Parts: sequence; structure tokens; C-alpha cells
Amino acid sequence: MRVLVTGGAGYIGSHTTLALLEAGHDVLVVDDLTNSHAESLRRVATLAGRPAQFVEANVRHDDVMEATFARFLPEAVIHFAGWKAVGESVAKPLVYYRENLDSTLTLLETMQRHGCTRIVFSSSATVYGAGEPPLSEDAPTGATNPYGRTKLMIEEILADASVADPDLAVGVLRYFNPIGAHASGMIGEDPQGIPNNLVPYVAQVATGRRAELSVFGDDYDTPDGTGIRDYIHVLDLAAGHLAALDYIRDHAGYHVWNLGTGRGTSVFEIISAYERACGHPIPYQVLPRRAGDVARSFADPSKAKRELGWEATRGIDEMCVDSYRWQSNNPRGFTA
Ligand code: NAD
Ligand code: WQD
Repeated sequence: MRVLVTGGAGYIGSHTTLALLEAGHDVLVVDDLTNSHAESLRRVATLAGRPAQFVEANVRHDDVMEATFARFLPEAVIHFAGWKAVGESVAKPLVYYRENLDSTLTLLETMQRHGCTRIVFSSSATVYGAGEPPLSEDAPTGATNPYGRTKLMIEEILADASVADPDLAVGVLRYFNPIGAHASGMIGEDPQGIPNNLVPYVAQVATGRRAELSVFGDDYDTPDGTGIRDYIHVLDLAAGHLAALDYIRDHAGYHVWNLGTGRGTSVFEIISAYERACGHPIPYQVLPRRAGDVARSFADPSKAKRELGWEATRGIDEMCVDSYRWQSNNPRGFTA
């Protein structure tokens, strides 16, 4: 298929673009590089043995999107492009609503004009708010910050659009906590500034870029007192996109799937796994809880297994080994 990938230069987008190329699809990436580097796509081309086409543009720019659709004639879209930092979204809500909602509306309008009826969207487990795990797709939703609200609003926009157009096929993927990197160590997560997320931070401590990790709370009602999450290898996540694409090829309508492992891992367990991966201790200090964090979150991933035939296959040790390989080969990310 000809697949247009928005945000394809980013962390999850670059791994998925590689998987699409490896599976024989033709790929065109639209990315404005606000949170990524074109170098990621050059490395994807090296790994795949052929490139994705690349348009450097904001998805909100409808003239560029119009020309790109007219030229590439995509049969499906995977929509990764979006701003994703929870704390930043509280400080800059209007930027988040403008970037995330406007880009989705422009994309859907352009798809409609060109008769493109398949879209896979990057949603997030953040839409479950403080729900009790295991979280299945019919668990109550409720976001606690502007970023999460953009995901919920986009899900509703997609659901409404699919009611209005019975040919539209929508796959909403609610990712849990994506970590890890391609086993080559050539592509991976390259956060700008101080990492917000646990594993990118641990990776920078492991390679000496930062002195110590802050553990946000060890007094949760969990076996070791630290927060529990469902970490999923980014390559398993990429495979989930291909499975969803396959499914919506001949299933119109609105579909939602969790992409997680169904297993919870604590912060202390992540530190131990990372120490095994890098071969030395990870210095840390325990601080108070971070505002807005829940004690435990993990998926019920059975719907994706049942309907897509997809399940995560990689464990925490492999995730940490692959993360460390990427981080130690590229201590400054793609800019080094
Ligand atoms: P990322 O920042 O690495 O990738 C997003 C890409 O989109 C970047 O390359 C950025 O330059 C680009 N972009 C952003 N807004 C754009 C716009 N309007 N037009 C064109 N390009 C734009 O993030 P990621 O971790 O790869 O996340 C991809 C998607 O998955 C996002 O929608 C994110 O909200 C969602 N998601 C991520 C996580 C996670 O923990 N990484 C979890 C759940 C959901
Ligand atoms: C994991 C655990 C922290 C950093 C976030 C978003 C969510 C989704 C994924 C996009 C928690 C603890 C963290 C640190 C720590 N993104 N921690 N020290 O909060 O589950 O989810 O990313 O959709 O929307 O909210 O992930 O990696 O930030 O935290 O102790 O320096 O690690 O308290 O228990 P989270 P995380």
C-alpha cells in the first residue's frame, strides 16, 4: 500500500516507517521536525535498503497536504504527528489544542477530498485517567491534562467522521508506555532537553549525561512502593500498527485497540533491569510523588490479540538492552 505517515521522523514514527518499508509498503513521511531530526529517516533508509519519501511540513498546512496527497495518492494514513509532553500541555494548552486538533482536521479534510478512507491514529493510555487496571478498551475515559484531552477529542472527531462516512476505516491505538529501540542501535528515542519519561532519563544516567535519577515516590500502594506501568517495546508497537493497517484494509468503521503487554513493571524493577543491561549501578534518589501520577496502569491487551492477531513478544530486559545500545552508541542522539 501507499502509506502516508505524519510524524514519521519521530520516535515511534521512525520505527514504524522502517517496519512499513520492510513489509514492502511505499511510504511518504510528513513531519515538520519540531521534535525530531531528518537524520532518523536517513538511518531508516539505510536499515531498510530504500528510503521513505519525505516532505518537511506542518500537517496543519492544507496547501502542502493537498499537493502531497495529489502527488502520492495515499491509500492509508498513519497519524503520529502531535505534541506529547503532559507538563508542557498544562503550561501551553492553546498550542496543544491548535497543533493536535488542527493537524487532525486538516488531515481528515484532505483525506476526504482525495477519497482516502483508512487512518490509524496514535492515541494513549492517558485517556484512561486514574482507571483501575487491567484497562480494557471499554474502561471509562477521562483525561487529566490538555494533552490527554486532545487525544480524547481526536478520538471523538474520528468516531463522528466514521458515522458520517460509512466507508471510513479508523484504527485508534492506545499505546501504554513505549520504550526501547531498534536492535541495530541506529534509531531510538531522542528527547529534546530534560527527558520527561522514566526510561529516557535512566538511559542518560546510564551513559553519564545526567548524574542521578529522581524516583517520584516510593510510598505507593504497590509491592515495592514505586509506580507500576505497562512498558512496551517500540518494535512491538510498530508491528501493532502494521496489524491495525491490515485490519482496517477491509473493515470500515471505528475500532479501538490497546497496545500494551498486560504486564506491570515498577520503577525499581526498571532500574534493576537497566543495571543488568548497562552493567553498572544507576544512581538515584527518592523524591516525593509527581503531581498527576497514578500508582498502577497496565493494559488488558486481549482485544488486539483477538481481532488483530497481534501481541507483544519482547520483555523488559530486551527493552532495556536495546535502549542502552541506542543511548551508548548515540549519547547525544541524532545531533552528535
Ligand atoms: P515524537 O515527538 O518523537 O514524534 C512526533 C513527530 O511529529 C515529531 O517528529 C514531530 O516533529 C512531529 N510533529 C509534531 N507536530 C507536527 C505537526 N503539526 N506537523 C508535522 N509534524 C509534527 O513522539 P512519539 O513518541 O514518536 O509519539 C508519536 C505519537 O504517539 C504522538 O501522537 C504521541 O502523542 C503518541 N503517543 C506517544 C507515547 C509515548 O510515550 N512516546 C505514548 C502514547 C501516545
Ligand atoms: C513512568 C513511571 C513516574 C520519570 C507518560 C504520559 C503518558 C504517555 C506515556 C504519551 C511513573 C516514574 C518518571 C522520572 C520517575 N505519553 N518516573 N522518575 O507518566 O506513565 O506516562 O508517558 O501519551 O501520557 O503521561 O510515564 O515514563 O513519565 O513515568 O520515577 O524521572 O516512572 O512517576 O511512575 P507515564 P513516565
